[in-house]
Amino acid sequence: MENKFTSFLVLLLCFVINLVNSEYYHSESIVSMAPHNSVAHLHFYYFDIHTGNNPSAIVVAQANQTTLSPTFGNVYAIDNPLREGPEETSKIIGNAQGLYVSSSQNKDDVTLTMYVDYAFTYGEFDGSSISIISRNPVKEHTRELTVVGGRGKFRMAVGFAEIRTHFLNVTTGDGIIEYNVTLFYY
Ligand SMILES: *[C@@H]1O[C@H](CO)[C@@H](O)[C@H](O)[C@H]1NC(C)=O
Ligand SMILES: *[C@@H]1O[C@H](CO)[C@@H](O)[C@H](O)[C@H]1NC(C)=O
Ligand SMILES: *[C@@H]1O[C@H](CO)[C@@H](O)[C@H](O)[C@H]1NC(C)=O
Repeated sequence: MENKFTSFLVLLLCFVINLVNSEYYHSESIVSMAPHNSVAHLHFYYFDIHTGNNPSAIVVAQANQTTLSPTFGNVYAIDNPLREGPEETSKIIGNAQGLYVSSSQNKDDVTLTMYVDYAFTYGEFDGSSISIISRNPVKEHTRELTVVGGRGKFRMAVGFAEIRTHFLNVTTGDGIIEYNVTLFYY
């Protein structure tokens, strides 16, 4: 009796797995062997400055052809300061170094796909950094970026950043972006 019941359960399970496998996704609850045991919330402002004598974001490559979107294909290198507040005089707490590429062909959309390491140089997380690889549809009011890892205290971290444009000069591209980062780490 018990055996029959077990067989029935196994069959049912196979059937369910089959159903689920026909989609491109599958998710289930797992018991994690090594759950993250710390969570950090970071709040700072990212200064993306293209103008002046000392721009922190510069174009390093662009397409030699006209496309629907005038910026599609532009690659930018950045060394952007991270500050505590949105004022230019606010304390620098780190810097964001890396690349982003204008990745949407749609002229009504501006998406930057970001490959950036955000390092902290002050306070509790001085010497640690987080890595973001994510698309950033800049016209949306609030965007979510993926944190894929980190260094130092953020070794093996995962998380996400919610970001919002605090200031943007559409002529120059200069922007100040507010970040709220949630990180799970060990
Ligand atoms: C860039 O495009 C122009 C106009 O089509 C062409 O004359 C030139 O050779 C191209 N340069 C490169 C490096 O492809
Ligand atoms: C960040 O969090 C603060 C406090 O909860 C909130 O006031 C602010 O609107 C948030 N900003 C973003 C970009 O999520
Ligand atoms: C944007 O930048 C241009 C060029 O520097 C400047 O003339 C204009 O006043 C700026 N606009 C804002 C809103 O800061």
